Order: sequence, then C-alpha cells, then structure tokens
Amino acid sequence: MNKLAPSILAADFFKLGEQITEVENAGAEYLHIDVMDGSFVPSISFGLPLITSIRKKTGLTFDVHLMVTEPERFVDQFVDAGADIITVHAEACTHLNRTLMHIRERGIKAGVALNPATSPDVLRYVYDYLDMILVMSVNPGFGGQKFIPETITKLNDVKKLVESSGRDIDIEVDGGITLENVDMILKAGANVIVSGSSVFKDDISSNVKAFRSILGKK
Ligand code: DX5
Ligand code: ZN
Repeated sequence: MNKLAPSILAADFFKLGEQITEVENAGAEYLHIDVMDGSFVPSISFGLPLITSIRKKTGLTFDVHLMVTEPERFVDQFVDAGADIITVHAEACTHLNRTLMHIRERGIKAGVALNPATSPDVLRYVYDYLDMILVMSVNPGFGGQKFIPETITKLNDVKKLVESSGRDIDIEVDGGITLENVDMILKAGANVIVSGSSVFKDDISSNVKAFRSILGKK
C-alpha cells in the first residue's frame, strides 16, 4: 500500500499539535520528521525534545529523516524518543552497514537516503539490512524546493534494483512533491510519498485527502 508522509518541517510550529492531529484524521499514515544538524546540511531544524513531546499525542508512524553527520551517534536517542523508522544518509555514514544493523537491533525499521547526485550502487551490499530507500528529489536542507526531474530516471533504476534483490523494500521520495507530479512519481516506482509545503498550506485536511485519493488508486 502507498503511504503519505507529511513533513512537519512545513508546519506552523505554533499550531504543531493541532496540525499533526489534522493530518492524522485526514488519513496520513506516516509523519516525516526532518532532523538537520547545520553540518551535513546548511540548516538546523529541530531534534529530540520535539519528537518526545509529539510522540505522546499521535499514533502516526514516526519516519525520522536524519540529515546529520555520523548519525550512528544518535540512533539510540531517536529510538528512545519514539522513532518507528530511522533513515540515515549514505553520504553521512562511515560505517553504513553497522549503522543499519544498529537501527534494526533496536527493533525499528532502517532506511538509507540518497542525495540527488548519489548512485544507488552504494546500496549493493546492504539490501539485507534495510527496509526503505529514500530517494531525495531535492538537495536536502530546505523545504519548498523544486522537484529535480532526473529523480524519475533514478526511481526507475532503484525500482529495478529492489525487484532484482528480491527483498521487500519500500521506496520513499522526498522533496518538491505536489498534487500535480505525485502520480508520475508513483508510476516511477515510489510507494512512500513525503510532502511538506503541499500539505501544510491552506486547507491541510483537504490536501491530505487529495494526496490520499491519488495514492489510493495505485
Ligand atoms: C528537505 C526535507 C524534506 C522537505 C520536503 O531537506 O528532507 O522532507 O521538508 O518539503 P517539500 O515537500 O516542501 O519539498
Ligand atoms: Zn525529509
């Protein structure tokens, strides 16, 4: 089943609790949580206290996207705060295999994110250790950017690689996804859709429902 993962980076933090409840009630499955350290990416977002505090208020699956250098240093803390999936960047890990094993040993799902310029070849020897591949469709660091069109070719490649691996691995796409381009992204092989600015603008509930109805058809 296709999943929608609204990214709270685009939420109004003054109304964060309300807006999380709204996306949950409207039918989203995941909550995408973008953690940025100002080192791996040129921006700082939020971290553990925020996750701990919203964890008590929602049953959504917490999809934590760590845009941080050497993310293995923080795996235990994010699991304790309530993450259900932790995704680390291949570019940020010296020991990717070890990091993925660590995440899974803590009983949650492990994902690997690839920047737009990173080849999926880096995943070749870790298919047995991952549950999700996050294909970045913008350069990470900011919400509201434009979808990079070459992502479609990359998604086709990733889809083939996942199929030939014979593993049950989700393919998530993140950055610049709108109601206009999401269908093309699903057709290229994605089954988890992140969206920030297209969800948290105007009427949040109808945005989620509109995404869900396109996702539901696949
Ligand atoms: C970018 C983040 C994205 C971002 C998506 O670094 O990883 O998750 O919040 O936001 P939109 O949908 O606005 O591109
Ligand atoms: Zn993200």
